[in-house]
This record gives sequence, C-alpha cells and structure tokens, in this order.
Amino acid sequence: MSVVVIVGAQWGDEGKGKVVDLLTERVQVVARWGGGANAGHTIVVGGKKHVTHLIPSGILRSGVTCVLGEGMVIDPQTLLSEIRTFRGAGFMSRDSDLVVSGRAHVTMPHHADMDRLREQHPEAIGSTKRGIGPTYESKAARTGVRVGDLLRPERFRKALTRDVESVAPTLERLGAPVPDLARLEKDFLAIGDQLRPFVKDASRFLHEQIRAGKNVLFEGAQGVLLDIDHGTYPFVTSSSTTAGGACAGLGVGPTVVDSVLGIVKAYATRVGRGPFPTELDDNVGQRLREVGAEFGSTTGRPRRCGWLDIPALRLATRLSGIDALALTKLDVLAGLDPIRLCVAYRLGTQTLDELPLDPDDLAAVEPIYEDMPGWDSQGPVSREEDLPPAARRYVARISELVGLPFALISMGPGREETLLKRDPFRPADGAQAGGGAV
Ligand code: GDP
Ligand code: IMO
Ligand code: MG
Repeated sequence: MSVVVIVGAQWGDEGKGKVVDLLTERVQVVARWGGGANAGHTIVVGGKKHVTHLIPSGILRSGVTCVLGEGMVIDPQTLLSEIRTFRGAGFMSRDSDLVVSGRAHVTMPHHADMDRLREQHPEAIGSTKRGIGPTYESKAARTGVRVGDLLRPERFRKALTRDVESVAPTLERLGAPVPDLARLEKDFLAIGDQLRPFVKDASRFLHEQIRAGKNVLFEGAQGVLLDIDHGTYPFVTSSSTTAGGACAGLGVGPTVVDSVLGIVKAYATRVGRGPFPTELDDNVGQRLREVGAEFGSTTGRPRRCGWLDIPALRLATRLSGIDALALTKLDVLAGLDPIRLCVAYRLGTQTLDELPLDPDDLAAVEPIYEDMPGWDSQGPVSREEDLPPAARRYVARISELVGLPFALISMGPGREETLLKRDPFRPADGAQAGGGAV
C-alpha cells in the first residue's frame, strides 16, 4: 500500500486532474484537503470531457471512494449539482463512493457576494469569485457554518445567525444583499438532507483505509505558489496548497505519506493577478494559449502564458518535499523554436536560483534564459526513446536543473496519451523498467 500526495508545482492548472485520474487505476481512495469550487479539473476519457470543481478526480474510476476533507470549503449547491452530473453520466453509483467531512466549512451565498463585490475594486487580486476567501475568513473568525450543521436545524440556525451578524458591517459597506435568513434556512436544510448519506468523519475514514493497507492518493488543488503562507502573497488563494497542507486538511500525520508527486506543465500559466516573471505578452504567449487551450475551466478567463520557470519550480519542490515530477502538455511546445527555459533570475548584481518571495525583489527580478532547440509536431509515444531528440533533451534538462526524476510525461489530454515511467503506486516493479531522470 502507498499514500501519495499530488500537488500542482506552479500556479494551478498544471493538469492535476488528468494525472490523478490516470494514476487512480490502482488506487482505492482519493481525498482532497483544501480549497473549494475555485478548482477546475478537466479529465478526458474516451474523447469525452468531464469537469470537476469539488469532487476529487478519482470519480471516473469505479471502486474508488472520493473524500472531501476537513480543510475544504464546500459550496453545497455546486456539490449537489456535481453529484447529479456524475450520476447522470453513470458514475458514483453507490452513496459510499463519496465521503464529505462534517467538519468542512460551508460557502454561503453571502461569502460569494463578498468575493464578487471585492473583485470590483481596482486593486482586487483576480479571484475566482467563488467565495473562497470569505469562507476561510469566517472559519478563522470561528463564526463559520460547517457541513455537519446542515444536518441539524437548531445548530444551523445558530451558526448562520452568528456568521451573518459577524459579517453584516462588511456586507453593508460592500452594498451586498441582506441575507434572508428564513429562506436560507429552508434551502440549506433541504440541501443538508440530500447530502446526509455522504457526511462522515473523513479523517477517521482515511485512517481506517490507510490501516487496512489501501492505496490512497491525496489530491492537491491549485498550485504550491498560490499557498496562503508560502506563495506570492497577497496574490494567493486562502488555503494551504503545499503537500504539508494535506496532513493538516485531512487529519492525518505526516508519517503516513510515502511520496510527493509534483505536476508541472511544460510551460507556465497563471490566472488572476500577481507576479509572473516569465510571462509572454507576444505571439508566442498567444500561441501557447491557443494550442494549449489555456482558458480557465472554472471562470473561462484566458490564462496568462509564459516560459517554464525553473527558479519557481525549485521553490515549489522545496516547499512540498516533491520527490518526483510529472510533466504535462509537452505536445503544446511542438513547432516552437527556440524553446526558452528560465534557469535563474538576475536581481541587481545577484543571481538567484529560486523565486524570491519578497514582493519588491519578485517585481525586480529578470529571467535568465537558456535557449533549447525545438521539435516538430509529434504524436504521443509510449517509450521515451521514441520522443524527438530535442524533446528528450528539454525534459532531461529540466530534470537536471531541478534535481528530480520524471515519473510520467503527458502528451495529450487523454489517458492513453501518456508515457508512464514509474507508477508511484507500484514502487517495486514499476510500470516500465528504468526510472530515474529521462
Ligand atoms: P488542473 O486544474 O491542474 O487539473 O488542470 P486543468 O484541468 O485546469 O487544466 C489542464 C488542461 O490541460 C485540461 O483541459 C486538460 O484536459 C489538459 N491537459 C492535461 N494534460 C495535457 C497534455 O499533456 N496535453 C494537452 N494538450 N492537454 C492536456
Ligand atoms: P486548479 O485546482 C488556477 C487563483 C485565482 C486567483 C487566486 C485566488 O484548477 O489548479 P480564489 O478564488 O482561490 O480566492 O483566487 O488563486 N486560483 C487558481 N488558479 N487554478 C486553480 O485551481 C485556482 N484556484 C484559485 O485565479 O489568482
Ligand atoms: Mg484547473
């Protein structure tokens, strides 16, 4: 049995959903630990596209239990609509396929209103407007509503009143609608009734599964550089997106984790505002956006695109203790020549090998690029020897600069468009002989 944490090693949208779905073939439990419906994971199976915001990306595999952990913030209406959509498509046939923590916090309409209205401010950070920040504010203020409260009318009434009273001055200042408590009570208690079969102690469930020797995958949302403590603050999300956050958000000790897989896109993207040293405002950036279909699956916003940033990847690797990488979207780079790789930054007279988190330093860094030869368009391959030599060199150079091996290389959205070098759930025999750096 293995417990593997998967994190996005950039600013989100690295292709975590595809990789989680692929690796879940040998997994019995997939658990999410943080964030909420700000996430958007697109999974393509048999040419059909599925999008998930709250339910973990293991949902398309039968026999897998998907867990929404204690550290998440859950918009129950979005969750119900996801349950309906996946059930309608023939997945999640048993109630026991889904576990929702009773201690996860609930995103109420007033949280989404606050997020939306704050985003009208010129200095706004460019959130997904899903109420994520305000829900975590209520949680930290200890006035929040939790999923378990939705199952107990008296407790829910009290929690909701307490939270609305606490944020009332902010709602008034922002010009938000005054919450209609009677209406909310009726609607959310009805939703609670529908969620009742899924609500459990997620931490305890995971503990039992791990003790029983199951393969368990902890699925990160967002990316390490959006972490509330260790990211490019204030242009971050409101949760812990590093691998350590998995333990805090799921109520498991760090000693249960066997390995951490970092998902990295072959170039860089970012949605929302915030520093992005390798951003391209030119035709190449536009080409990456078009060929890579870089438009947000949650908001539809065009993603900002740029060259792969090794100093940023080194930081993400260190913050999450990543011990292997999965490279996605290598196919998108085909046809570009040269391909530029940011290997370090210049800051005044200094050379930096890691992304600095001081906002002034980060604003002042200049990328130092290494130019690599490109390669022509090429279909997916199942052996690394069949990759174009220039593509192999690009992959090997990343591995060398970061000091980590690649466990898999993805060359298209589908499951079959993947070169799997080493399945972290089969450490002994491996999916293919070899392993180590490409
Ligand atoms: P996530 O949030 O990390 O799960 O990533 P998203 O799903 O938001 O964005 C990744 C997008 O790239 C999705 O539309 C995937 O279907 C797609 N994708 C994943 N891997 C590959 C790949 O190797 N090549 C191409 N062309 N698309 C990919
Ligand atoms: P997945 O799981 C990319 C970004 C937002 C914004 C910042 C704060 O699909 O990789 P929030 O709504 O969380 O308060 O917004 O974080 N952000 C993401 N960017 N992928 C995501 O999730 C994101 N979730 C949040 O764009 O910059
Ligand atoms: Mg995404």
